[in-house]
Amino acid sequence: MDSLNRHEDYGQAALDEAHLVADPIEQFKTWLIEAEAAQIYEPNAFVLATIDAENQSRARTVLLKGVDHRGFFFATNYLSRKGEAVAANPSVSAVFGWYSMYRQVLIQGVAEKVQSTESDEYFASRPHESQVAAWSSHQSQPIENRAALDAQFTEALAKFSNTDVPRPDYWGGYRIIPTRIEFWKGRSNRMHDRIEYVREVNADGQPGEWKVQRLQP
Ligand SMILES: Cc1cc2nc3c(=O)[nH]c(=O)nc-3n(C[C@H](O)[C@H](O)[C@H](O)COP(=O)(O)O)c2cc1C
Repeated sequence: MDSLNRHEDYGQAALDEAHLVADPIEQFKTWLIEAEAAQIYEPNAFVLATIDAENQSRARTVLLKGVDHRGFFFATNYLSRKGEAVAANPSVSAVFGWYSMYRQVLIQGVAEKVQSTESDEYFASRPHESQVAAWSSHQSQPIENRAALDAQFTEALAKFSNTDVPRPDYWGGYRIIPTRIEFWKGRSNRMHDRIEYVREVNADGQPGEWKVQRLQP
């Protein structure tokens, strides 16, 4: 486990306020495209942290499936542990760790279920087997063994062999509506760059402008 004692130099390439765009979503898209170009494995994977009804935190990886001015879209089972947690407490955070680029993006926000039509549209775009899997796994529920899980999948495959697979109503999308987005760039001597965008709230309670501030590393 050599990595535990390694002290890597993260280089001098800077993250400069002057080079960032005013809209953090646009900035995020630029970094995602750069992560793709750098051939990061699963560049759209992020760690999603939730807090459940018992105030217990839990984090797990999910895949980003859309990003636009409204926020960050991912899909899952609404009855999973994360689904139950979001129902109890919509505050979530997300971490994109593009470590080989010495980059990290941290997002704080509120997760909202998307409209069912948007979930339908996304579900319809998925491969047939992935659609069947949504029917054959009660995500986060215990099961006695692998054979039982495989049997559930085989049964669902047979059921939907000659037909379109409808979206189960317990499966769909969430959008993280961001309130803070931090861009982190590793620098030499642990003097890293951290630029945080914080969304102001207008007098009418609606989201306002993004304010930018530099944080100490
Ligand atoms: C690279 C990667 C991508 C994943 N993408 C998703 C995803 O998009 N949606 C999902 O529900 N689970 C995804 N998972 C599985 C989750 O990490 C997790 O095991 C599952 O959602 C159940 O989490 P929960 O019990 O906390 O709800 C992914 C796992 C990995 C390692």
